[in-house]
Amino acid sequence: MERVIIRGIGSYIPECVLSNADLEGMVDTNSEWIVTRTGIESRRVCLDTEMASDLGYEAARKALENANISVCDVDLIIVATVTPDLRFPATACIIQEKLGGTDVPCFDVNAVCSGFIYALDVARNFLLNNSKMKNVLVIGTEKMSSIVDWEDRSTCVLFGDGAGAIVLSRDTDENSDAGILDVLIGADGSLGRLLYCPICDSGGPAGVKSTEKDAYFIKMEGREVFKEAIKRMCSVAEDVLQRNDLTVDDISLVIPHQANMRIISAIADRMKIPEKKMFVNLQRTGNTSAASIPIALDEALQSGNIQSEDLILTVAFGGGMTWGAALIRWK
Ligand code: UT7
Repeated sequence: MERVIIRGIGSYIPECVLSNADLEGMVDTNSEWIVTRTGIESRRVCLDTEMASDLGYEAARKALENANISVCDVDLIIVATVTPDLRFPATACIIQEKLGGTDVPCFDVNAVCSGFIYALDVARNFLLNNSKMKNVLVIGTEKMSSIVDWEDRSTCVLFGDGAGAIVLSRDTDENSDAGILDVLIGADGSLGRLLYCPICDSGGPAGVKSTEKDAYFIKMEGREVFKEAIKRMCSVAEDVLQRNDLTVDDISLVIPHQANMRIISAIADRMKIPEKKMFVNLQRTGNTSAASIPIALDEALQSGNIQSEDLILTVAFGGGMTWGAALIRWK
């Protein structure tokens, strides 16, 4: 049976560190509150001149190098983002040009913090249903700093910028059961009001009058989102395990969306997963939305937390509200 594997992976976070101490000078907050309520100690932010496509390009370049293929070998590019450089063309097209690629389909997916899992599912289905496709580049990239209200302490402490990318390829090795075993995605549009952004272009609100600026920023009902996040991430993770006749004991590592340490701990607690199996890097990245899972996956791999044949569960939740989970047997 044909399977789809992750052939290469890469990530990129901008150099500029914005610490909790820096935020103390910007809004009425304190590092202790941020660490206790979220686990976040610092996050990375772009320069004004850096766009989501620049971050995505860097991550994609590394993923192609890691997969040992060139952009000419890529049959499709999908980008998950809510901070596109422009309303159009799609950030996937912009990254394609930066990579020097041409002549293959490119499009963006918007499922907010679940975007990478949505894009993974789309990419996997393209590969399984179109025998002409061999390699698909999937990128999650976000310049959240461009849609954060830097005067709103309840949201500005949470988010960061970054990008992660994978190369997905069809694998025909009959002696292996590695690959993307399953992906499950869902949404409830009636909860959209809990987390939204009226207008978004990561070009930012430059030149917009201050009274209009508000329309560019993230609005969030934090407590409601917090409760939904735990509920939905637990249920989608349990569903994907159950329909594959697996239990949490079969899982080597969980890569959860990196939004809040208390959300991750509550999931571990509710699903009876030892905390040491929950990969966490949010203390250094903050919530990078669609980039969070591929960055965490890459960092887990680089730090030796993933071995060949390990079973990885990734699970995400975000605006929409959307959610998703994927099971990956690592190769
Ligand atoms: O990727 C999915 C997207 N988002 C999420 O997953 C976020 C989900 N929500 C959360 O992570 C949490 O709700 C937050 C971290 C956003 C907030 O934590 P909380 O424990 O729910 O705090 P809260 O909103 O109930 O606020 C508690 C207090 C309030 O003060 P009063 O009314 O009790 O006097 C806030 O005004 O903390 C205050 N507060 C702050 N204080 C210092 C809110 N933000 C800050 C801040 N610094 N940055």
